[in-house]
Amino acid sequence: MKADITEINTYAKQWIKEAGERIRASFPKTLDIQTKTNANDLVTNIDRETEQFFIEKIKGTYPDHRILGEEGYGDKLDELEGVVWIIDPIDGTINFIHQQRNFAISIGIYVDGVGEIGFIYDVVHDELYHAVKGKGVHMNEEKLPKLKNRKVSEAIIALNATWITENRRLKPELLAPLVRAARGTRSYGSAAMELVYVATGRLDAYITPRLAPWDIAAGILMVKELGGVATNLRGGPLNMLEENSVFVASSGLHAEIMKAYLKSGEW
Ligand code: IPD
Ligand code: CA
Ligand code: CA
Ligand code: CA
Repeated sequence: MKADITEINTYAKQWIKEAGERIRASFPKTLDIQTKTNANDLVTNIDRETEQFFIEKIKGTYPDHRILGEEGYGDKLDELEGVVWIIDPIDGTINFIHQQRNFAISIGIYVDGVGEIGFIYDVVHDELYHAVKGKGVHMNEEKLPKLKNRKVSEAIIALNATWITENRRLKPELLAPLVRAARGTRSYGSAAMELVYVATGRLDAYITPRLAPWDIAAGILMVKELGGVATNLRGGPLNMLEENSVFVASSGLHAEIMKAYLKSGEW
């Protein structure tokens, strides 16, 4: 059966707003914080409850849709057939815990592997970023313009300081020259917000060596919808069933960084 994108979109918007209200209502309450893979990999009762909230809504309305969610209450997927909701209930959990800001709900809705709808909800500011393939990107009711091209020398690049220190994923000397050449670098601690900031032009590029599908499912749709490019660090396609390195930017800047700094994957 063909997916009714308009209807799915209407429900998703309603549910995400409701989930945001619940998160805002949780602020005065004490969080139950647990660690996952290491001492800085945190999860709260609100991350878990928010994912469960979406799953209940989706399965209650669309029993045949499948869900890929960070906290593991969804389905185990090894292909992307049909309608798949890729959900990060809170992207930026550390910020959520420490700052009560700079986090977002991120939902990408894919049909047979193709991204059709993306939502990123900046809950604290009540800013809902929303992309529908072929129909552009809106922040609440306001339509976002296409991305502007900037040269590296005029660009602000989102990049975590970890990636220019000794680390397991990238040689520090790979990105250090880019950091020096750029107008500035920033790191916000939420991949979804960093992708939204590229979409709005507050940032010009975002580079990171490892993200999960739920970190990027919605945001890459937004960047692409506005004429930007989203690839892995070698310039190849992103796979929504595994972790990827991620590099997004407007098309001219993407080409410049790829050629001059990432050496088109010759590392
Ligand atoms: C994390 C954030 C962070 C990124 C991490 C992600 P979470 O997501 O997006 O910015 O650097 O790799 O895991 O765990 O807060 O949803
Ligand atoms: Ca997490
Ligand atoms: Ca995340
Ligand atoms: Ca998360």
